[in-house]
Amino acid sequence: MKTDLYIKTDFLVIGSGIAGLSFALKASGHGKVVIVTKEKAMESNTKYAQGGIAVVWDPIRDSPEKHIEDTMTAGAGLNNRNIVELVVREAHDRVEELIRLGVNFDTNEKGTYDLAKEGGHSEHRILHHKDITGLEIEQKLLQNVLKNPNIVLLENHFAVDILTQHHLGEIVTSQTKGIECYGAYVLNVAENKVFRILARKTIMAGGGIGQVYASTTNPLIATGDAIAMVYRAKGFVKDMEFVQFHPTSFYQPGASPSFLITEALRGAGAVLKNHAGEEFMYKYDSRGSLAPRDIVARAIDHEMKISGKDFVYLDARHIDRKHFISHFPNIYDHCMKSGIDPFLKMIPVVPAQHYICGGIETDEWARTNIKNLYAIGECACTGLHGANRLASNSLLESVVFAHRASVHASQTLGDGIIQEKIPEWNAEGTVNAEEMILITQSRKEVQQIMSNYVGIVRSDIRLKRAWDRLELIYKENEELYDRTTISVPLCELRNIICVGYLIIKHAMRRKKSIGLHYMATEK
Ligand code: FAD
Ligand code: SIN
Repeated sequence: MKTDLYIKTDFLVIGSGIAGLSFALKASGHGKVVIVTKEKAMESNTKYAQGGIAVVWDPIRDSPEKHIEDTMTAGAGLNNRNIVELVVREAHDRVEELIRLGVNFDTNEKGTYDLAKEGGHSEHRILHHKDITGLEIEQKLLQNVLKNPNIVLLENHFAVDILTQHHLGEIVTSQTKGIECYGAYVLNVAENKVFRILARKTIMAGGGIGQVYASTTNPLIATGDAIAMVYRAKGFVKDMEFVQFHPTSFYQPGASPSFLITEALRGAGAVLKNHAGEEFMYKYDSRGSLAPRDIVARAIDHEMKISGKDFVYLDARHIDRKHFISHFPNIYDHCMKSGIDPFLKMIPVVPAQHYICGGIETDEWARTNIKNLYAIGECACTGLHGANRLASNSLLESVVFAHRASVHASQTLGDGIIQEKIPEWNAEGTVNAEEMILITQSRKEVQQIMSNYVGIVRSDIRLKRAWDRLELIYKENEELYDRTTISVPLCELRNIICVGYLIIKHAMRRKKSIGLHYMATEK
């Protein structure tokens, strides 16, 4: 495709994870779709999802009411109940669609779906594909996208900023009424050139923020670009203080991303133990190792502080070998390659950043406050998760809101315009980055600041320190951004700084501990 000046399309989708691909497939029945994705299409948080997708599938034992209550309890009641009810009630239809698209979920010896259990769930309700559910979903969605004649997929295309009246020379602030989105400036990485994609409807499906932290289960692409782009365009962003740390990533200092040990392994009987061999979780919660994530991650953090060690253990030695290897082949492989035979040794685990519950504020149709701009998947804040996400509710949220966004965006396609007055990208006065070290070093600094001061346990003093440090890096980077030719590392750094700033700002506003936001009293 020629990308010199601009591309015109009905729907521009930014991101090729479960949310973006699901939306694209649905919208393709109503118009032309262009998907841009910053690396290979497969690379996404989705690809790494292990445990599965939560859905009420056993109507005898389980019920939507139970799933709703589990979601509300995990979210500390800060969830939007209407959204929780809507997601849970639409879950079955959306999961059936995935199955129709070819996604294989594991069955048991009776031939029915094998329903797993994870932390915070009162029933077995997780559909999964071994311990590589995300890979299975991503592959099947992508196969369908690639054979769809109405969808163009542009890999190695990095969305830099979304287009609004600001790019027509108007003053746009967060108070401006009627901000509209006209598409995005996109960097073609191979040609090192920014061009315009003009769209009637733009869909943000840019995923998570893990790389804002030093230790995360998210891949390198998870730099919060979507949230930062929308924030810069004066879109509303909320609940950023609710950063979820997964309790059990494989302890391997320096690994990025950190390898996840799915919660489903605890659902299958593995238990957390400290260095004294004590099953410590019952000291913290009657649900033991299967308490919700915020509680387990904090308990591990506390145990590590008491013992002065950098990890605790997950004991899976008693789990039936055949069951372990058939259900968790990916984890078994990883442990063995790392010198841990899980039937002989306990697995060393440590919490790592995993998910952002906050993000771009959306309504029940995935609309943002910016006209013709939608946000779906992890970058959106729909109100489903409240102060803490229930395990396996994210893949579910993505498909539910991809569907809802597609319904709304298709029905209102005529409201969107192709705004050809948007000027070309202006690279005047910029030069190539003479020292890449400035960018890579700042990225590491931000990650350290966020992990050290804005992690599982926070305090006023730590947040203030993070704020001051980040402000300095922000100023340095803005100056660098203005004088340097655009590149992916530079844009990612800018986005990481922006997301770090939003997390700290929202954390500072919330004085009391709730869910994932835990404030220690400084002595
Ligand atoms: P992603 O899948 O992350 O896709 C985002 C896409 O946007 C990527 O293609 C990326 O390249 C692209 N992108 C980003 N920025 C730009 C840009 N500037 N320009 C162009 N493209 C861009 N959830 C569950 O419900 N169940 C689980 O079992 C589960 N397990 C998980 C295990 C791991 C290790 C991880 C990391 C997450 C897990 N999650 C799980 C969470 C879940 O996988 C994610 O929240 C979900 O997949 C997000 O989907 P998404 O489509 O919103 O984003
Ligand atoms: C896991 O498999 O433990 C992750 C599930 C999730 O993030 O929802």
